[in-house]
This record gives sequence, C-alpha cells and structure tokens, in this order.
Amino acid sequence: MTKRTPSSRPLRRQTKLVRGGLARSPFMETSEAIYMTSGFVYDTAAEADARFAGTEPGFVYGRYGNPTVRMFEERLAALEGAEDCLGTSSGMAAISAAVMAPLKAGDHVVAPRAMFSSCLWLLEVLLPRFGVRVTLVDGHDLEQWRAACKDGVALTLIETPANPTLGAVDIAAVSEIVHAAGGLVVVDNVFASPVLQNPLKHGADVVAYSTTKHIDGQGRTLGGAILGSAKLLTDVYRDHLRHTGPALSPFNAWVLVKGLETIQLRVEAQCRAAAKLADALAAHPKVSRLFYPGRADHPHAEVHRKQMAMGGTLICFDVAGGRDGAWRFLDALEVIDISNNLGDAKSLATHPETTTHRRMTAEDRARIGVTGGTIRLSVGLEDVDDLVEDAVTALDAV
Ligand SMILES: Cc1ncc(COP(=O)(O)O)c(C=O)c1O
Repeated sequence: MTKRTPSSRPLRRQTKLVRGGLARSPFMETSEAIYMTSGFVYDTAAEADARFAGTEPGFVYGRYGNPTVRMFEERLAALEGAEDCLGTSSGMAAISAAVMAPLKAGDHVVAPRAMFSSCLWLLEVLLPRFGVRVTLVDGHDLEQWRAACKDGVALTLIETPANPTLGAVDIAAVSEIVHAAGGLVVVDNVFASPVLQNPLKHGADVVAYSTTKHIDGQGRTLGGAILGSAKLLTDVYRDHLRHTGPALSPFNAWVLVKGLETIQLRVEAQCRAAAKLADALAAHPKVSRLFYPGRADHPHAEVHRKQMAMGGTLICFDVAGGRDGAWRFLDALEVIDISNNLGDAKSLATHPETTTHRRMTAEDRARIGVTGGTIRLSVGLEDVDDLVEDAVTALDAV
C-alpha cells in the first residue's frame, strides 16, 4: 500500500474525517479500497516468520487485522483524539470486551443502573457468573459513587447520556473517584457520538462505541470500536479480541469509513433539528414530561453542557395517558418510523417499556424514570418542519 506524504500542517477535524487513515493501494484509487480477504500471503517462509514475530510490519490474518479495518480504526481514533482504536463486529462485542478483558474473579464493578439493557445484562447476569461483584448506583449521585467505591473498584462502565431518559453522569468527577479507588473507567459513548463528547479528555480510560448508530449513520451495518491509549489497547485488549474473535468485517469497516466522512455534518444537523423538535414537543399539552440534554430544564443540563458540545440527537418524553397514549402516538406517526435503533438518517421512535427495557422489572424501570407513556425519539436528517408536523399531528390524535 502507498501513502502520499502526510500534510506538513496539522489538519482540522473535518479534514481528518475525510482523509484520516487513508492508505491507497498501488492503483491509487480515490475512494478507500475494500480488502475483502480473510488471509494474507508471504513471499518466503522467512517473511511469514518475521510477520508473526512482529519484527516486520504487515497483516497476518483477518481476525488479527485488515487494511480496510485499519483505515477505519485510524480515522475514528483521529476523531476521538485517542492514541489507538480496535474495531469489533458490533457495539456489544466492543462493550463486552471493554468490560471483560480487564476483569478477573473477585473484582468489584460499580456502574449506574440507567444504561442500555444488553449492557445491564452483562453486568447483572454475566459478570456475577464469573465471580465479579457488581454494585449499581444512581449515576448522577456522586455520594453513591463514593460510597460504592469505598472498598475498592476494578472497573466502571458509564453511559452518558443514558438510555432512555438521557440522564448525565459527570465523567470527570466519576473518573476521579474511580481512579482514586484503583479502577478503570470505560464510557459507552454511543448516545453522544464522538462528534459531541470525547470522554478521554474528561479523564476516562476507554471509550466504547456501537458504530451501528451515528458512525454508520444510515442504518446499514453492525459494528463497534474500543479506543484508548496505545499501551492499554496493546496490554489489555488486543490479545483478548484476537483470541475471542469478534472481528469487524472489511465491508462493514468500509461503510463506517465512509460514514465518518460525513458524521460531523450529519450529527450537527440532527442536533439542530432535535433542539427544535424538543421545543415543539415540550409545548404540546399531551406531553407531560420531556428530557432533552440541550434544554435548560433538563435536570442534568449543567453536566451535559460541561461535557457535550451540543444537545444530542435523542429526545425522551412522556405522552399523557400512559402506555395507551404512547402507542396511539406511535401508531399515528406517518413520517417517523417505529424502531428501536437510533443515530440513523431516518427519525425513529420507540416505546422503551415494551421494547428496549422490557427485561427490567417495573420497579427498576421506575427507578430510571421509564413509564408506560415514555417515548424515545432519535432525530434524523429529514426536514425538521416535516418532523414537527408529524409529531404534533400524532400527539393531537392521542
Ligand atoms: C447505548 C448503547 N450501547 C450499546 C449498544 C449495542 O450496540 P450494537 O447493537 O451495535 O451491538 C446499543 C444499541 O444497540 C446502545 O444503544
């Protein structure tokens, strides 16, 4: 592969998003190539030996690395401001590896109880089976963090804004508490996206993504990524991923490379639309409660403002009339789709009680603020006036 001489000037973020990691083949294609291969060949036995020994650079096997996957990893690392990145086959592959690789039996994990339900399953069901003790706290309450970490902690997994009510966890404050107790801070940064929030700058050690959301941005692929210091990724994560096998497909990596070219433009436009839609929804008499991180009335607005550049692409609100009202609203939508995915160009609305959060008990749902009337709305790239009209008309029908 050939590379043009890198620019002698430091490049700005949007330029890195279009050109970061670009490694052209000898054909000098404009667009990044898809290296759809599971293996690699060597000119001589000695070359194979040197590649395996790591004394000569180069790829050895698709589960260990691939040129298209590497372009994606380098481009995402540039956006995140991380030393390195490792791609994975899905967001849950990234988060489960980010959590499991550093842990051993007898360790203690502290985490907020408001998070994506598969992550909660990982903490509540899987980790205890391997002898890891897990304490769940209210993520916004620093006193609860201090109390839970008092006797030591090996790792925390934070999601902020959190699914689905968009609560904030103060990454800097929690990192300080967890580091003082000897633990590693992993942030699931899916809801904010790397455009709006870079947890490493606030003291976190590891950032994990479902690239299925804003990084793809058009709902085509599953993928994930783990980012952090080169030392941490080499010492803790690289062998874990190589030998457990959640490799990112080269084709999906290529889709994600192209997604990164437009992510900043997309996410900023989606945030502007979400802010306008949130205001329209909050003013509607059928909306009894609304959470949008960019609004001054969000209970955690101050923390969101401190660590997020804009208000985000997600809105959470309660429709009057409980589950019945929420379902009527969803069924009356004509533009916005009913779907549990998020971060897509298409606006998507979901009913957490009966979809993403149905595994929880009613009591646990109540503790994180999910009611029968709760709707989570992921704002896309349609004309915002069509979205406002669609949502307001559907609310009128409730
Ligand atoms: C906050 C959050 N984390 C992790 C995931 C898991 O990602 P994936 O579906 O790509 O495995 C999702 C969505 O599914 C999510 O919303």
